[in-house]
Amino acid sequence: MVFCVAVKILIVATLLGVGPRVECLNFNFTEFDDSTRDQLILSGDSNMFSGAIQITPDVNGESIKYKSGRVLYRKPYRLWSKGYNASFNSTFVLNIQAQTHPGGEGLGFILTGSSVVDINAEGQWLGIVEPQMNGSSQANTVAIEFDTRKSYVEDLNDNHVGLDVNSVYSLVQFSLSELGVNLSSGLNISVHVQYDGELKNLTLFVEDMKIPVFSEIIDLSAYLPENVYLGFSGSTSDFTQLNCLRSWAFNGAEEDDDNLWIWIVVPILGVALLVGVAFAVYWKRKLDREKLEDAYPSIEEAIQGSSTAPRKFKLKELGKATGNFSPKNKLGKGGFGTVYKGVMENKEVAVKKVSNKSTQGKTEFIAEVTTIGKLHHRNLVKLIGWCYEKREFLLVYEYLPNGSLDKFIFCEKSSMEESTISWETRLSVVTGTAQALEYLHNGCEETILHRDIKSSNILLDSEFNAKLGDFGLARSIKLGDQTHHSTKELAGTPGYMAPESILTGRFTRETDVYAFGILILEVACGRKPGSQSQQDDYNSNIVHWVWDLYSKGRILSAADSRLNGDFATEDMECVLILGLACCHPNPHKRPSMKIVLQVLKGEAAPPPVPNERPVFMWPPLPPSFKELDISHGQITPFTELSGR
Ligand SMILES: *[C@@H]1O[C@H](CO)[C@@H](O)[C@H](O)[C@H]1NC(C)=O
Ligand SMILES: *[C@@H]1O[C@H](CO)[C@@H](O)[C@H](O)[C@H]1NC(C)=O
Ligand SMILES: *[C@@H]1O[C@H](CO)[C@@H](O)[C@H](O)[C@H]1NC(C)=O
Ligand SMILES: *[C@@H]1O[C@H](CO)[C@@H](O)[C@H](O)[C@H]1NC(C)=O
Ligand SMILES: *[C@@H]1O[C@H](CO)[C@@H](O)[C@H](O)[C@H]1NC(C)=O
Ligand SMILES: *[C@@H]1O[C@H](CO)[C@@H](O)[C@H](O)[C@H]1NC(C)=O
Ligand SMILES: *[C@@H]1O[C@H](CO)[C@@H](O)[C@H](O)[C@H]1NC(C)=O
Repeated sequence: MVFCVAVKILIVATLLGVGPRVECLNFNFTEFDDSTRDQLILSGDSNMFSGAIQITPDVNGESIKYKSGRVLYRKPYRLWSKGYNASFNSTFVLNIQAQTHPGGEGLGFILTGSSVVDINAEGQWLGIVEPQMNGSSQANTVAIEFDTRKSYVEDLNDNHVGLDVNSVYSLVQFSLSELGVNLSSGLNISVHVQYDGELKNLTLFVEDMKIPVFSEIIDLSAYLPENVYLGFSGSTSDFTQLNCLRSWAFNGAEEDDDNLWIWIVVPILGVALLVGVAFAVYWKRKLDREKLEDAYPSIEEAIQGSSTAPRKFKLKELGKATGNFSPKNKLGKGGFGTVYKGVMENKEVAVKKVSNKSTQGKTEFIAEVTTIGKLHHRNLVKLIGWCYEKREFLLVYEYLPNGSLDKFIFCEKSSMEESTISWETRLSVVTGTAQALEYLHNGCEETILHRDIKSSNILLDSEFNAKLGDFGLARSIKLGDQTHHSTKELAGTPGYMAPESILTGRFTRETDVYAFGILILEVACGRKPGSQSQQDDYNSNIVHWVWDLYSKGRILSAADSRLNGDFATEDMECVLILGLACCHPNPHKRPSMKIVLQVLKGEAAPPPVPNERPVFMWPPLPPSFKELDISHGQITPFTELSGR
């Protein structure tokens, strides 16, 4: 929006500026008195007397010898600018009265860029240039001289006009005597000067004669600066006269200064505005981004809060450990980044580089470091350290040589490289995972929801002990009066998500239990949870499939054929029924992790499961009776993290 305004201003400014708009400098002094004094600069020996300008003193006698003076219009005139040459007319009346015979020396109509007004140019110099400036371009003066004394050989006579550039030696000179004009006769002589800036034609008329005294082509911009002062100069020597200016009118076209203002200032303002707006937008985005990223005021502060905080590493160290994140060392790619194998201090580690493309990256990073960093459980992946440098988030874990569980249970039958794991191993993995989850739900200060339980997040050490990892989505919920973590994002993995969390976006301990139910079903069946692209396709859903077999009394046929029946049928049946119980459509009917663990350890029977899979209803039917473990306390969402 603001951009548009700035662009419009620029466009308007440009339109206004197309072709310089011409204004005029106009003045007409029919006489000179105190009311006009302000508009003029009188310098040297010039003065104002009896309604006229006395360019040199008008007092008869010694005192008027060797005088020089200037009178300039105070406001400079813009004679030219890039692509523009001004035209002007000026009419004035001179009255020159010789005091000696002949009179002396003369006067000039001048255009000068020189800021020096009080110059010492008496005698032959006519007040036009100082002797030391004669012939120098620095004189910055063009004059039409009205010369009343032949002061040097080149002078035509004692009654002539000439065109002078930076000197008193005229480029051209013309005698007035032939025209019947006597400059120093003491008569009023009207003069008209005309300059056509386009044709560079400078023409001089004297008296009301239609024929010019001279007409010369001269480019004034070649000798004069853009802004010039207009006026008159005069001088006397031993020869004296009264150099009087009676009236002066000027009519000059010039570029509109206001327009110039628009030309120059508005585009600058426009550009400045554009730059400013761009900068503001940039900053706002940056701030917004930082605000988003800074769910915590500072990563360091957020992480280093606890005494058991994981170690902070330097990016350099981690680069060195992983061979500069060489693709050769790539272990896998997860939801929030790529994992590399590395060696640090002769110990194998796994380094996860959190993808920083999404704003999620930083939040996931902090979540993972703060949740997992505080936790110590033999079934949780150990976080050794972290690094945040150059907008890169990195996590360093213990290295688990056997990788993730999924590749052992979903391996192709034909592929013998990754041999599947035995039922005993599977049971121990499932039990280990249940212990980790039970610890998260009930064993810590705050209830922690993992929110992304799945076989690819369960890692196996060299002895196939399960280690629950990837806490990128984990959230702790503080004890309070609510029981869920609410979020707008669709977290978790399709196929593992409880129907109510798909519907409401809420995550509870029950939704973690649901995902765990799916996990144990896949471990028992060796089958993926369901087509991820068609989560609603009930036939491809593992829960529907197992429940269907259960209804038909053939639940054992769901067992993974790769196990070749090498399992205790009661155990298999128990695990499958427990899986179904965890995946009950009504969250209130799902067992808690405490009960799940008891069942897996053989300390309790699996909870009863209806023969037919109940339909999913929302809101769910209230629980017929509260299970014991719910007394643990009530929980609130960890709201600081919910509004991502
Ligand atoms: C003004 O005079 C300069 C110098 O002679 C010339 O280059 C330029 O084209 C002139 N501009 C116009 C608009 O007459
Ligand atoms: C100067 O006078 C001439 C002749 O009267 C006229 O054509 C021209 O437009 C005038 N120029 C200015 C700038 O007034
Ligand atoms: C003044 O300057 C003109 C033009 O450069 C030159 O011809 C002349 O000789 C100079 N006169 C004096 C007295 O320096
Ligand atoms: C001009 O008039 C003055 C004063 O009347 C006179 O002295 C002078 O000779 C005249 N000059 C010419 C060239 O006629
Ligand atoms: C010259 O003009 C002024 C008015 O500007 C007038 O008072 C004066 O009489 C005139 N002088 C002559 C000699 O005509
Ligand atoms: C310059 O302008 C004058 C007055 O308009 C005219 O008489 C003369 O012919 C012009 N000279 C040139 C070279 O155009
Ligand atoms: C200056 O003003 C006088 C008196 O109003 C007028 O007669 C004369 O023509 C004007 N001169 C110019 C050049 O406009």
